[in-house]
Order: sequence, then structure tokens, then C-alpha cells
Amino acid sequence: MQIDHLTIDVPQKLPSKDLLQWDQTLFKDERYFELDYIPEHFSHRDTQMRALKIAARPALRGARPINSLCSGPHGTGKTTAVLKLFEEIENYTDSVVPVFVNCQIDATRFAIFSEIYKKLFKYTPPDSGVSFKRVFKKITKYLIDQEKVLIVALDDINYLFYENTVNKVLYALLRAHEVSAEVKVGVIAISSDLSVEMSKQLDPRVMSVFLPEEVYFPLYTRAEVRDILGDRVRRGFYANVVPEDVLETVIDLVEESSDLRVGIDLLRKTGLRAEISARRSVTADDVVHSYERSRLVHLTYSIHSLREEERDLLKLIAEQEAKIKAGDLYKKFNEETHLGYTRFYDIVSKLDSIRLINTDFTGKGTRGRTREIQLRYEPEDVFSVLAGMNT
Ligand SMILES: Nc1ncnc2c1ncn2[C@@H]1O[C@H](COP(=O)(O)OP(=O)(O)OP(=O)(O)O)[C@@H](O)[C@H]1O
Ligand SMILES: [Mg+2]
Repeated sequence: MQIDHLTIDVPQKLPSKDLLQWDQTLFKDERYFELDYIPEHFSHRDTQMRALKIAARPALRGARPINSLCSGPHGTGKTTAVLKLFEEIENYTDSVVPVFVNCQIDATRFAIFSEIYKKLFKYTPPDSGVSFKRVFKKITKYLIDQEKVLIVALDDINYLFYENTVNKVLYALLRAHEVSAEVKVGVIAISSDLSVEMSKQLDPRVMSVFLPEEVYFPLYTRAEVRDILGDRVRRGFYANVVPEDVLETVIDLVEESSDLRVGIDLLRKTGLRAEISARRSVTADDVVHSYERSRLVHLTYSIHSLREEERDLLKLIAEQEAKIKAGDLYKKFNEETHLGYTRFYDIVSKLDSIRLINTDFTGKGTRGRTREIQLRYEPEDVFSVLAGMNT
């Protein structure tokens, strides 16, 4: 019988000792390779952590903290440093309330103040029917009555650079004390876009109250990358899963992409690939193969945060063979989506502010200067990420 045949056959087909069984894994704990995992062990950032703590210190005495601006390339630990700082503050006192805002998700003034409200009152204000003014008033009244100091981190603040949101948000936060001197608010802005100068984005009246201490996060050196990734490997994988020379290949690719996050994602994908092949360790070939997707980790993250019509426009831009004039692009976009010029213009500004496209004023249009739009990535990479979202 078929069944008998199978039961006899299976033992002979058991994997050899170098191969994994179905219920075995190479990962001691896969959590260490998730991109939002906050490392317990956060080394090589002592200078930056010290600067952030000095800026926050007045808050612990009930005074207004010093504003900070964390800048530096991708994957240099800016988000992690501020989350660590907030963790420490929360463990130390409840008279300082840190609120962490991911501006990719909360990109309007109302959404940001809703986050602050939620942290203070433990529930979200209703989306409709409540004005910003009322939310703002309740927040400031609470801070005064409870004698609490607020620190707001605006992560990836460049997502607020369109529609002038950044000025509206900072203005409301930083001038809150004008309502009453007892309101104490500090801001930590986080930006990975070195080509954008905050001072150019901000109104002079906002800049004059913001005046941040700059905290710079440089790229990690090769030795630092090795140390950080080696630590993850030891915590996340079982012994001998990642041979030394394979880790060096991962480090090479982190250097090539200038993003530590690529290395962390690469380790995970590499491990999964070896698991699928039922092997007990990873090879350089797994790494090279996994890099095809891991190198796009940042692009993937940015595209995932877009709304449908924003992705439609990005795809349309990727389909163009060369730079395209804004007017011509709008015609195509309007034909496809029937959306109007205002929405088109907003989306272009957003894609520009998150560095997916370049928009340069060049040449002459029929009515004066015209904008030319160009993708900042390889079109194939954009198509590949978009296709991955539909599977
Ligand atoms: N010193 C470090 N030790 C351990 N892990 C780190 C360290 N620095 C960064 N990481 C890890 O690298 C990844 C990227 O770090 P993080 O998100 O803080 O970078 P970022 O500077 O905010 O990048 P981006 O500008 O792209 O937002 C995270 O998964 C984080 O856990
Ligand atoms: Mg970040």
C-alpha cells in the first residue's frame, strides 16, 4: 500500500546531519533582525547620547528643555538614540512626558497633536468635530495643571516639509509657552536628509524660537559595523550559523550601501534562505542573493508609506524614459486618475521631500520657468518594490 511504502521510505530520506529538519531553525531569536527592534546594547553613540541627555536635563528640573536636531545619514542610529533617551526618561520620572512621532505616519498638525493628546490622556481625540485649537488647549491646560514638561520627537521631519506643515507644527509647539509661561515644551527634530537645510525650510519666526543644538550621527566605521552586526549574530543566530568570512561579505555590502539597516535585513534574509535549503549555516552566495532585495530596504520603507495615488504617480514617473516636464506629467496623471492639479502638486512635493524624485527648475516653459521631474532611483528597483507589494 502507498501508506506502508511511505512509512518505510521516510527514515531513509531523513536529512543528513548537516541539513535542518522541518521544525528546526537557525535563529535563536529572529526578533533581533526586525527593523524596529530596539537594541538593549547600543554602543558607539556615547557622544550623541550625552548631547541628547544634556539637552533634556532642564526638563528633569521642571524647566524647558533645549531643542535638538539629530542629523546624519540613514541607519546611523538617530531613531534608536532618541527612543533610548525616551526609555530612560520614562524610567526615571513621570514629570517629563516624551512623545515620539513618526512623521511618515503622522504628517499633519492635527495628527501630531493627536499623538501628544493620546499619550497624555490615554485616548485619541475624535477625528472630526474637534478643532485643533481645542486639542491644543486641553494639552496645554493638562501640562500646567499636572506640572509636566513635554518633549516631542519629530522623526523623519522631512515628511513635514510639504504644505508648510513643519512650520505650523513647530510654531504651535514652540510658542506654546506664550499661552502661559508655565507651559514647557522641547522638540527633538530628526532628519536623515543632509541636502536639506532646516533653516531654509523654516520661517524666520519659527527658527528664532527653535534654535536647536545639532547632534550629528556620522556613518559607522567598518570596525563599528562589525561589532554591531557581530553582536546581533551572536544574539540572534545559533553558534556557527554565520561564518566569519560570510559576516565580512555582509559588512562589505553595508559599506557599499552606506546603511547599517541593510546589513541587519541582509542577515535575516540570508538566514531564511539557508533555512529554506535546510542548511545549517549561511554562505556568501546566500548573502549576495539576498542583497538584491535587502539593498532596497530603504526604498521599500518609503514606498510602503505612500498612499495609492502617490504610488500611482511614482510609477508613472518611473515609466518615463527621461526627465519630464511637470505639465506633461500632470496631463498623464490626470488621464489615469482624474485627480486635479492641486492634489498632483501636493504629491509631487511630497515625493520630492522624501527624496524619491528630483524636481528642478530648468529650461523655459511657455509661461516662464517650468519644473522638470526625475526619479532618484533606478526604475527597475521601483517596479520591483511596487510588484512586491501586490504579492
Ligand atoms: N549603535 C548601534 N548598536 C546596535 N544597533 C544599532 C546601532 N545603531 C543603529 N542600530 C540598528 O540599525 C538600524 C538603524 O538604526 P536607526 O533606525 O536608529 O537609524 P536612523 O539613523 O534613524 O536611520 P534613518 O535615517 O534611515 O531613519 C536599527 O535596526 C537599529 O537597531
Ligand atoms: Mg530613523
